[in-house]
Amino acid sequence: MVEGEDGGRSERGDGGSLTRRSLLVGLGVAGGAGAMYAAMGVLGLAPDRQERDYTPPQRSDFALRGRAAAKVVILGAGVAGLAVAYELGKAGYDCTVLEARDRVGGRNLTLRGGDLLPELPDPLASSGGGGARQVRAQGTAGTREARTQEARTQEARFGEGVYFNAGPARIAQWMVTLDYCRELGVPIELFVNDNPSAYVFNRRMEAPVRARTARADMYGYISELLAKATNAGALDRRLTSGDKAALLDFLSGFGDIGGSYDYAGSDRRGLRVNPGIEEGVPLGAPPPLSEVLGYGLGRTIGFPLAYDQAMPMFQPVGGMDAIVTGLADAVGRDRIHTSTEVNKITNLADGVEIEHSGGSAIRADYCVAALPPHVLARIPGNLDARVVAALRSPQPVSAGKIGLEYRSRWWETDDRIYGGITETDLDISHIWYPSHDFHGRRGLLVGYYNLGADADAYGRLTHAERQKRAVTQGMKIHGEKYRTELVSSVSIDWRRQPHIEGGWAAWPSYEGGFGLLQRPAGRVYFAGDWLTHLVAWQAGALESARNVVAQLHERVIKDG
Ligand code: ALA
Repeated sequence: MVEGEDGGRSERGDGGSLTRRSLLVGLGVAGGAGAMYAAMGVLGLAPDRQERDYTPPQRSDFALRGRAAAKVVILGAGVAGLAVAYELGKAGYDCTVLEARDRVGGRNLTLRGGDLLPELPDPLASSGGGGARQVRAQGTAGTREARTQEARTQEARFGEGVYFNAGPARIAQWMVTLDYCRELGVPIELFVNDNPSAYVFNRRMEAPVRARTARADMYGYISELLAKATNAGALDRRLTSGDKAALLDFLSGFGDIGGSYDYAGSDRRGLRVNPGIEEGVPLGAPPPLSEVLGYGLGRTIGFPLAYDQAMPMFQPVGGMDAIVTGLADAVGRDRIHTSTEVNKITNLADGVEIEHSGGSAIRADYCVAALPPHVLARIPGNLDARVVAALRSPQPVSAGKIGLEYRSRWWETDDRIYGGITETDLDISHIWYPSHDFHGRRGLLVGYYNLGADADAYGRLTHAERQKRAVTQGMKIHGEKYRTELVSSVSIDWRRQPHIEGGWAAWPSYEGGFGLLQRPAGRVYFAGDWLTHLVAWQAGALESARNVVAQLHERVIKDG
């Protein structure tokens, strides 16, 4: 937004201000191409990635210094932990990865037929010290907690080829995640994040409307109001007569309101009967202005404009966990120990010692803790009290999803929706349509993806109850087939996921603890999306991993 505003002002070239072009040319003369390129980045013209060059550590880095690669123990085989091991591995570091869950990937979780999904009984009891006890109780056969735990385990019964990305599911084109897909040979395909043919529905609407209809009406009415206010002189103190003419010209096209500036609907709303040999049949006149305003669609219409959500977006072919598979294979499966819980982290004068559930303690030169901060904060050890307090600062965010498998792809055949998202203000928040296997036999919708109180409300239910509630809500948009075509489902409450206990962790403030944890505590480094301004994105985990790897490698090269 700031960039757009700056750009707008400078491009006007009014008075003595520099246009973007003249500024760049001036810098090019004075500072050479490098300065010009850097300035282009500031102005938003150069590729973002050029500003944060990253060179992976290499074996040859050690030769000149007479240093050897160190031994590093990495806690957590989520995307951050695996990326740390992968990057350090390029230079021959001796990495061991400990993962408490029985599978790698952390929140990058793709579920397929036959997969089991356990859930903790009560996430809110797990804040403070209780969670650690609960997590340890999981394997205690015969206890009441263990039996409850068992009762909450779902088995995915999806058919062949059907999968559910229960965690991350979309990648923006500027994100480093795509660089890893390229490097690891993970094929990607388009993820349809915005589809005008999907619906919008909120409780004030009598019936769902296509996103294109809602947008056309909002753009049309806003354009009409602004054009009429402009013509009535309401903006005369702000606009020159040239500005007014330009604004009216823009609004005429933007809102499809012609020269009369009355919004009366247009083909953009969609058609009742599509054109072919015969003309299309229009949907008809838009609802009155106050009804359209009452829909409250600002956030919905604005969402696909967000920098991290704008089309085109991408997904790995066959499931998001292809990234995890690529990383884990490159690291070497023998270096990764699953079902191994960390019990104690001790900084020593010349290394670290990690006690864990898988056998005798591991001694290493360095440790990278890539666990969720609220989980890490509970692990005993000798981390400084200020560090532990900083780890307690980011707050776990509740997030839930349900994958609904259907025997037919009725959203394609009946609704003509190929990917994209229906936005609602119901407790399900969204319905996602699959962006892959178009025209396939079966398919899986995301029947809710909600946060905060809505996620907690679904989380408290049994899986059968979650499914029933989600289907009841979805039927308000899609009718009976939403229930009758359903064949199976799996739901996830991320607060109840063992050893993760949250969709992500959000900083109340980036002051203080965030800066402290960017640096190592003795020989313990910290990594994760929560240590970036890309919280809740794999790109954050990867950027943080690179940052830690660069710091650690520099230290090893310098100090041994
Ligand atoms: N990265 C998360 C999403 O796209 C927040 O929904």
